[in-house]
Amino acid sequence: MSEIGAIEIAPGTHWVGALDPGLREFDIILRTANGTTYNSYCVRGSAGVAVIDTVKASHADEFFARLEQVARYDEITTIVLNHLEPDHTGALPELMRRAPEARLYISGKAQLMLKALVKHDDLTYTIVNTGDFVELGDRTLHFLNTPFLHWPDTQCTWLEQQGILFSGDVFGCHFCDSRLFNGQVGDFRFSFEYYYAHIMRPFREHVLDALELIDPLPLKLIAPAHGPVLRDAPKSYVQRYRQLAAPLLHVGADFKSLLVFYISSYGNTQRMAEAVRDGAETIDGVRVSLYDLQAGGDLPFVDLIEEADGLAFGSPTINGDAVKPVWDLLSSLAVIKVRDKLGAAFGSYGWSGEAVNMIEDRLRGLKLRVPVKGVRARLIPTESELAGCCELGRQLAQHLTGSNEPKIISMSELLTRESPHA
Ligand code: FEO
Repeated sequence: MSEIGAIEIAPGTHWVGALDPGLREFDIILRTANGTTYNSYCVRGSAGVAVIDTVKASHADEFFARLEQVARYDEITTIVLNHLEPDHTGALPELMRRAPEARLYISGKAQLMLKALVKHDDLTYTIVNTGDFVELGDRTLHFLNTPFLHWPDTQCTWLEQQGILFSGDVFGCHFCDSRLFNGQVGDFRFSFEYYYAHIMRPFREHVLDALELIDPLPLKLIAPAHGPVLRDAPKSYVQRYRQLAAPLLHVGADFKSLLVFYISSYGNTQRMAEAVRDGAETIDGVRVSLYDLQAGGDLPFVDLIEEADGLAFGSPTINGDAVKPVWDLLSSLAVIKVRDKLGAAFGSYGWSGEAVNMIEDRLRGLKLRVPVKGVRARLIPTESELAGCCELGRQLAQHLTGSNEPKIISMSELLTRESPHA
């Protein structure tokens, strides 16, 4: 174990987590330049002791050694699990074995994960929601339901008498520094923002809902599940989350935003993109923007896509595939919410022309709706094919504005639509 013992963060309340300075990658997708911490806390009240979250299984020994410095197992009455991901529940089965009298408190959505993690036939627990609380004598833990931050099960726990928010992944970051408190550790701001961008950003609406619960609290300290304990200016971290979750600059109202992205080897897919744009612009209430992916990286476009209502992607087919800049942009959309936006695809091809269907499939996989069949053109688009692109843009814009007329589709038309090379 590291030489660092349990750390008191308020009278009778201790950090008993674990340090993982050697970690360089978290959940495959996150870089961790100096590791991370798995924060667990022990709260002592006059009539009971609570443990809030545990640690990754590989670091259980550290956790138990620190916990034993501040509590006996037979004193533990309460185990709160703010989040069931294994980095916080790896030591749970062993903690339950050592503290069999302790009662578990979890959110309703956490039940399935808990049963998968602890395979006891007689597993008992208490489901809690916003407004519920548990008392430890002179200490009260209140529960705040904050789903999707960053799994559906997540909740925060508020220690009323000490003004401490045990926030789970919220306000956390992957930064390992045994000095623990935000006013004493190294500069971790990059990590705080990086963590938000990769973990919280896809759930922006849920972040805003959570902030509505957290904002009124007289916060003295935020104790997240990763990274520094936020003792200095804890409210500033709440404000920063509100800024990060805010929409981009206001650019007008009362329109739907359609972004048309394309990349083109010989100008053919570009002409199709321009026709899609022209068609969409015939519909009132739609603002259309055209972007050549050859000129831009993914990052600014991800910001725009997050705010957009509709997306159209144009790609040639090269070696049976859409081209890399299109896939790069599509793969970068995992960090934002795109579900229920409208999508479409088009492109020129030489031989086989798979790109359009592949893009459409990917859009559906990202949970976009693809209401209009894509357009393909062999090499140079004909006037008729350009008219088809124009119609694609027009119909997509109509779907965006809700001005598309209900249409009865005949079986023969349906069969034609389903044919991949029609
Ligand atoms: Fe730190 Fe979502 O687990």
